[in-house]
Amino acid sequence: MSIKKTILSGSTVTGNLTLGNYIGAINNWGQLSKDYNCYYMVADLHALTVKQDPKELRERILSFFAQYIACGLDPNKNTLFVQSHVPEHAELQWILTTLTPMGYLNRMTQFKDKSSKQKEILAGLFTYPILMASDILLYQTDVVPVGEDQRQHLELTRDIVTFFHNRYGETFTMPKAYIGKVGAKIMSLQDPNAKMSKSDENEKAYVSILDAPKKIQKKIKSAVTDSETTVSFDPEKKAGLANLLTIYSVLTGKSIDEIVKSYEGKMYGHVKVDLAEIVCEKFRPVQENYNQLMKNQDHLHELMKTGRDKAREKASKTLKLVYERVGLI
Ligand code: AMP
Ligand code: TRP
Repeated sequence: MSIKKTILSGSTVTGNLTLGNYIGAINNWGQLSKDYNCYYMVADLHALTVKQDPKELRERILSFFAQYIACGLDPNKNTLFVQSHVPEHAELQWILTTLTPMGYLNRMTQFKDKSSKQKEILAGLFTYPILMASDILLYQTDVVPVGEDQRQHLELTRDIVTFFHNRYGETFTMPKAYIGKVGAKIMSLQDPNAKMSKSDENEKAYVSILDAPKKIQKKIKSAVTDSETTVSFDPEKKAGLANLLTIYSVLTGKSIDEIVKSYEGKMYGHVKVDLAEIVCEKFRPVQENYNQLMKNQDHLHELMKTGRDKAREKASKTLKLVYERVGLI
């Protein structure tokens, strides 16, 4: 019997994985497999909450899967799988939907944000946090490493566990969010008050994991900062620079203080040039791995199948238990 605790996380298959995803999620995930039993998922069902071109979606699912591995997630040490390959996710979601009050979903800030930008609000966008709860609960997950933006969804998942337990008895492990202290929220390069988002319409707002070095340099160079010149860390008054320094710190392991000191008497431009170099160096081996992996797509499909089988083994057990508890035959 494994006494390791279980971790699950995932990323929605929209846009391109960004530096924010790398720092806030994937890079942390890789370091957890020593101590935890880890499930990492390419969340393709979640992507359907916004309109997708089927051909592009299919390509992107494979690309995300390859990027997970290229960023250092070892398929032998982690269960890497594609959400839709495990039908139990959608099945459990239905059961949980019957227990979730509309009022709770209405309070989700991500829903408020996203729905305010849409002419017609589709039910899937509203109920999406329940699918996320289902992802987590199927694997009896203890810990969910996510960025700050997902905290509220984790709280909802915990509420759903309580609703279920009150009605049907103890069934699920109560999950906890794990939010890294530094880098939990990397901000947009164009608007330091907004999260760096992979679905931002302005491509200059994010660095994508697969961006060519020239592009990375250009984007970081044109990152919005203030009009002062002295390099110091002040997230309120100098949000843009603070964001760059945070990225710098996470990627190099140096403290912010140490970095600020090393730029005494220098200008923001120096920070940007060096940071661009650091990001390029970080992503160079990732991109090499990625290109290598994409050359052998049959192998990627094999890895997906292995992941699916491992994931289903656990998910089907939980779903069977749930069906028993709720009184289905
Ligand atoms: P998403 O891109 O929204 O599918 O998020 C996938 C994972 O990456 C989640 O754990 C997010 O919290 C994390 N993440 C996304 N964007 C950022 C960001 N700008 N900073 C830190 N973490 C992020
Ligand atoms: N909703 C998450 C996001 O957009 C991605 C996600 C889907 C997820 N299912 C999950 C994260 C389960 C953690 C656990 O960032």
